[in-house]
Amino acid sequence: MLSLAGILALFSIVRAAIVPGATWTDTSGNVIQAHGGGFLKVGSTYYWFGEDKSSNSALFHAVSCYSSTDLTSWTRQNDALTPIAGTMISTNNIVELLFNSKNQEYVMWFHSDTSNYGAAMVGVATAKAPCGPYTYKSSWKPLNADSRDESLFLDGNAYLLYASDNNQNFKITQLDTDFYNVTTTVSELAGSTLEAPGIVKRNGVYFLIASHTSGWNPNPNKYFRATSIAGPWSAQADIAPAATRTYYSQNAYDLPLGSSAIYMGDRWRSDLLGTSTYIWYPLDFSSGNPQIIHADVWNLNIAAGTYSTVTGTSYEAEAGTISGSATIASSSAFSGGKIVGFLGNGGAVTISVQGSNAAQWIALYYANGDSTWRNTTVSVNGGTPVVVQQPSSGGGQVVISVPVELQLRSGTNTITFSAGQSNYAADLDKIIVFPPS
Ligand SMILES: *[C@@H]1O[C@H](CO)[C@@H](O)[C@H](O)[C@H]1NC(C)=O
Ligand SMILES: *[C@@H]1O[C@H](CO)[C@@H](O)[C@H](O)[C@H]1NC(C)=O
Repeated sequence: MLSLAGILALFSIVRAAIVPGATWTDTSGNVIQAHGGGFLKVGSTYYWFGEDKSSNSALFHAVSCYSSTDLTSWTRQNDALTPIAGTMISTNNIVELLFNSKNQEYVMWFHSDTSNYGAAMVGVATAKAPCGPYTYKSSWKPLNADSRDESLFLDGNAYLLYASDNNQNFKITQLDTDFYNVTTTVSELAGSTLEAPGIVKRNGVYFLIASHTSGWNPNPNKYFRATSIAGPWSAQADIAPAATRTYYSQNAYDLPLGSSAIYMGDRWRSDLLGTSTYIWYPLDFSSGNPQIIHADVWNLNIAAGTYSTVTGTSYEAEAGTISGSATIASSSAFSGGKIVGFLGNGGAVTISVQGSNAAQWIALYYANGDSTWRNTTVSVNGGTPVVVQQPSSGGGQVVISVPVELQLRSGTNTITFSAGQSNYAADLDKIIVFPPS
């Protein structure tokens, strides 16, 4: 018999929130390794395919396969594709799959390359089950031209979307009815320098979402709109405030959800690739065009095709107790017009917050104008500090957020932010404490 505690635990798994930038784990408690992901829905099950970068290398290790019915609780299945010595199975970035009903088979397309990205090919593998394992067919240059970051889009016909010609020209090329090869290019965005593409169709309009090329570093991801897959495509426009560089992320996949969609991006950390996190946000189309809804904690209702963002309680850093070398700086760019800097080397700020006797998500809003990552120590009620990573925010007056889950007691808690002696943390603007999820 299922005990009441068991039932409650089941509910809490089902209701798990999406927390962009946190370290996401699978149902076995292991870190999800599915970077540069692609998604496939079979019946009511979603499959997430991506690169396993647990070896912290850009070189091909495996294409992992995870399954879920709610997009939040993921179970790792067998690897879909693993390296074969002496072949061109050396993927990076993007893995995409489609089901071909004609052949009753799953067809995987991936960026197939050498370690210096010099080969610039696509690879194709096929299987009879969603997670495979897939049988590798071959790698080649589509229509004899480069293909690096790529994606697939199915709209009656299937299309390969890819960065071609040394990443200068972006092409949309129709696949044959087997999905084994490309046939004709239906659209080319010449000189657009796009990568990490995805297309989502809303109300009969095609929206191409892509980043520009800046290696592992983020840039402001863009959308282009067209009423035909063949274009003409509109001029580019931002999907998020440009200064945040898409909240330090790069598009990987865009999944339709009711009248909106989900932006599924990667927050790459090039020096420790396996610790790169996933940045998923609601993509709102109520203005007619896609705009990211920035939410530190949010929930999905797959059946209803809806999402809801979770509201927390904000606490300004400058209202905290400031000690040591820590100082307050002013700018209209900051919440409350102020930010606390020089955290570390004896400098700290302690903020009093209300807790609910539970593990709770806290979002740290900070500015890190360095091109490198910083980190901050976070100590609750004088306890052992945890270290929270703070990627560059893109400028000393640009504020982005990172989440940390902390065990709070009920009533008043103190949270102290500082850094190790060797470095300063990012400047802290405010924190938001979320209710237990
Ligand atoms: C794809 O089609 C081209 C042009 O017909 C052909 O030369 C090439 O061999 C095909 N590649 C594969 C992998 O089937
Ligand atoms: C924190 O950042 C500093 C560089 O500013 C780095 O030397 C240190 O290793 C980082 N600590 C952790 C735990 O990531």
